[in-house]
Amino acid sequence: QMLIQSMRFHYNQESYQQNTLLEVKNLSVQYPTKKSFLGKTLESFVALEPLSFCLRERESLGIIGESGSGKSSLAHALCRLLESNIVQGEMEFLGEKFFALKGKELRHFRKKIQIIFQDPFSSLNPKMNVFQILQEGLKAHKESHQTPQMIRAKIIQSLTDVGLEESYLERYPNELSGGQRQRISIARSLILRPKVLILDEPTSALDRATQNQILTLLLNLSKQYHLSYLCISHDLSVIASLCQNVLVLKEGKMLEYGVTKEVFKSPKHPYVQTLLKASEL
Ligand SMILES: Nc1ncnc2c1ncn2[C@@H]1O[C@H](COP(=O)(O)OP(=O)(O)OP(=O)(O)O)[C@@H](O)[C@H]1O
Ligand SMILES: [Mg+2]
Repeated sequence: QMLIQSMRFHYNQESYQQNTLLEVKNLSVQYPTKKSFLGKTLESFVALEPLSFCLRERESLGIIGESGSGKSSLAHALCRLLESNIVQGEMEFLGEKFFALKGKELRHFRKKIQIIFQDPFSSLNPKMNVFQILQEGLKAHKESHQTPQMIRAKIIQSLTDVGLEESYLERYPNELSGGQRQRISIARSLILRPKVLILDEPTSALDRATQNQILTLLLNLSKQYHLSYLCISHDLSVIASLCQNVLVLKEGKMLEYGVTKEVFKSPKHPYVQTLLKASEL
């Protein structure tokens, strides 16, 4: 029954009319594919053509598109995980020019935009237990000036936030289910109190029922902490239930961008129609 129920979904149409949180202008990604022996780029591959969009506080944006369309490239560019010569364009985040930030300021704003990777297993260090995994994020962001008690309290709170008990602190990633691992990845990001959480295929490794639990968790967390998601998924029902807006990519180009329900109900582009047919929405 739970499996069948989990097939149903509702469009997330909650609108908050909040301020703009993140604004991307003419962002493009171009990977060097051939370099001279002096390191000069001779040839490059355009993974993402200039695109612009914005994300309002508490609202979420879905990103869909076939494999290789540039979804992860976009996500990585937004978190500044790509070298600066690869990325062109501008991003205003919390009123700052995010791509121009350096040093201490960059560290501060980086905490506010977190990413959760596709495969929760490979992104968790197998040699660390849950406590160490959660603590590590705090350390990396120089919050270790706090007392051990304060750190422990934060860690336990973040576990509770994702629906896990304190007893999980001693466990290692190989002793967790896929859904639990994904919860730990979410907790590790949440502990830094981000404003934006980028989810790269957050549920693709999970069965339908677990996927649904994670979705419910994400929806609740976004309300509790006023979070915005930038969610990449090939599963259109995930996008519909999480994201008010959607952006469709194909071969690095933005085909559509708008309110999810409108795009899904009357797609303008034939490619989007095919995507929707294939997912039986
Ligand atoms: N470091 C790199 N150097 C050169 N090309 C790259 C690099 N990383 C990605 N690409 C290319 O850029 C394109 C977009 O890749 P990207 O990973 O963004 O796709 P994706 O939409 O996330 O795909 P998937 O759904 O399979 O995860 C692909 O054609 C890929 O081969
Ligand atoms: Mg990808």
